[in-house]
Amino acid sequence: MVESSEQPGFYKLPMAERLKLVQKLTGLTDDEVKTLGNTGGLPSETADHMIENVIGAIALPMGLGTNFLVNGKDYLIPMAIEEASVVAAASNAAKMARLKGGFKITNTGPVMIGQIQTVEVKDPHGARMAVLLHKQEILDKANEQDPVLVSLGGGAKDLNSRVIQSVKGPMVITELIVSTGDAMGANAVNTMAEAVAPIIERVTGGKVYLRIISNLADRRLVRASAVFEKEAIGGEEAVDGIVYAYAFAEGDPYRCATHNKGIMNGVIAVAIACGQDIRALEAGAHSYASKSGGYKPLTTWEKNKDGDLVGTLEMPMAVGLIGGAARVHPAAKAAIKILGVKTAVELAEVMAAVGLAQNFAALRALASEGIQRGHMKLHARNLAANAGATGDQIDIVAAKMVAEKKVRFDRAKELVEQLSK
Ligand code: MEV
Repeated sequence: MVESSEQPGFYKLPMAERLKLVQKLTGLTDDEVKTLGNTGGLPSETADHMIENVIGAIALPMGLGTNFLVNGKDYLIPMAIEEASVVAAASNAAKMARLKGGFKITNTGPVMIGQIQTVEVKDPHGARMAVLLHKQEILDKANEQDPVLVSLGGGAKDLNSRVIQSVKGPMVITELIVSTGDAMGANAVNTMAEAVAPIIERVTGGKVYLRIISNLADRRLVRASAVFEKEAIGGEEAVDGIVYAYAFAEGDPYRCATHNKGIMNGVIAVAIACGQDIRALEAGAHSYASKSGGYKPLTTWEKNKDGDLVGTLEMPMAVGLIGGAARVHPAAKAAIKILGVKTAVELAEVMAAVGLAQNFAALRALASEGIQRGHMKLHARNLAANAGATGDQIDIVAAKMVAEKKVRFDRAKELVEQLSK
């Protein structure tokens, strides 16, 4: 335990000084300090400006998803993730999807919702009506906040107001509907929501508290679909197995959480590589999955008349190319260049394809041999390397452990010792 977590002035120190202090407080070795201080693809000055109290950066491997054909266009997909098998699984799924034309994606455009909460209104339904009657004034005020967005065709386009019942009584919730263009939109929407609050207080006679974007971005949906040829994926049994796996998730929230987690393995890996707000994406995905009242899969899987497998994914995808890490993180900028997407919508579409591919790969493995065999091979390689194997030894030790079904560190050590003799 550190002596004290109260460190006044910590934020004012240069990063190197902060690290020195942390070393003193926590007993980090010189090597550990060096590791933290090595910010990899992120220059330390950039890191220092992104958040507060910066002491370093943590790097993740960035792999490249291959074989992706999305709306007729080929993409190489940067994916940053700590979990083995995800990149290989997505690439393999995308290869199979190509046979029937790849992934087809549609979207509803980059539209976000900003919420303004009004309480202590004497006549909530009358207040709601008053907001609606002042729609143009409110939209004009919102749009004054971001002339650049407006000049590019975005901005506050519409307004909605409703009365909700809460544990603190009724409240009027006004929603700005904002087209955020190539931005994820949180900044633009929050600024607009704050700017219009005084008008809403004036016309409702109530008190405004919260003014903030909603991460249930259900006006910013992407829908991906793909057909997987029966013969290419393991025949009728594989198709049936995947449809049963989907039915399991549809019928049971415990399974559904893991099913959707598999989708997010792909979505979030691309999001991290491209500097996106992954908390917003997770919040959007899971709240959308719960919109019906129960927690449901974001994908559906069914058999078509030819016996092939058809998958669809529909989910909110609030991503941007303007602002945030996508603009300042050099590795994210390089990843976006590799991906070659020109708009936020295009990025969202590609991410949906990866999510669907990932889900397909997981269900196919789960409904047949299981995922452990594939995982074990990689796990065995990691263990071998950790046990001191180098070069060819890594594959030899890993293969032996897998064959023996003894994928363990102690066994890896024994084998490395034997090989080194
Ligand atoms: C592991 O990260 C993801 C899976 O559990 C997804 C699933 O079960 O569908 C394999």
